[in-house]
Amino acid sequence: MAQTQLLFILSALNWSTFQLPVTAILDSERTLWPEYGLESDCRPETTVHVDAFLYDEDEVDELVDQGALSRNYCRMCGSHATAPLTFISHSLGIDQLRFLFTAVLPSGTLRDKVLVDVGSRLGAVLYAAQLFSPGATKLVGIELNPDLCRLQTETATNFGISDKLLVICDDARNRPAELAAADVIV
Ligand SMILES: C[S@@+](CC[C@H](N)C(=O)[O-])C[C@H]1O[C@@H](n2cnc3c(N)ncnc32)[C@H](O)[C@@H]1O
Repeated sequence: MAQTQLLFILSALNWSTFQLPVTAILDSERTLWPEYGLESDCRPETTVHVDAFLYDEDEVDELVDQGALSRNYCRMCGSHATAPLTFISHSLGIDQLRFLFTAVLPSGTLRDKVLVDVGSRLGAVLYAAQLFSPGATKLVGIELNPDLCRLQTETATNFGISDKLLVICDDARNRPAELAAADVIV
C-alpha cells in the first residue's frame, strides 16, 4: 500500500474514532440479531460491539483496562461491571517445588538430613523432597488440620513412601523438639 493511502486510512480511522461512541454504533442504526447461522449466538445483553477497523487487539485491551469495555458479564444479574477474581494457592506448585529441591536444595543436600515442613497441608513439599532428594533420613510434616494429616498419611501409604515420612498432627508451636532436630525447615 502506498504511503499516502496508508496515511489516509489512519487519518480516517482516528477521525472516526473521535466522532463515535466506543461501540461505534449510532442511535440512528437499527440492529437485527441473526436468528440462525453465523453470529446467531449473539444476544443483545451479552454482546459487545467492537469495531475492528477502529480498535486492534491491543487497543481493546487498553479499553478493558480503562473500564470502557468489559470482557465479562455476571451470569446472575447480567452486569458488565465485573472484575477479575484473585487466585491464591495454599500449596507450592510443581515448578516451585522443582526449584526448591534443585536450585535451593540441590540433589544430595538432604542426604542423611531431616526436613520439616511447617504446615504441610497436602504433603506437596514432603512428596517432592522424596522425589528430588531421595537420600533424606526423615521427612516430617507438621500440620494443624486432622483431615489434611489423614490425607497425607493415606497418600504416603498408597504410594509406598510411608517409611520415610512422618506426619505430626499438631500446632507446630507445640513441637520445639521436632523443629530443633530439623536440618532444614520449610
Ligand atoms: C500455605 S499452607 C502450606 C502448604 C505446604 N507447605 C505446601 O507448600 O504445599 C499452610 C498450612 O499450614 C497449616 N497451619 C497453619 N498454622 C499452623 C500451625 N500453627 N501449626 C501447624 N500447621 C499450621 C494450615 O492448616 C495449612 O494447611
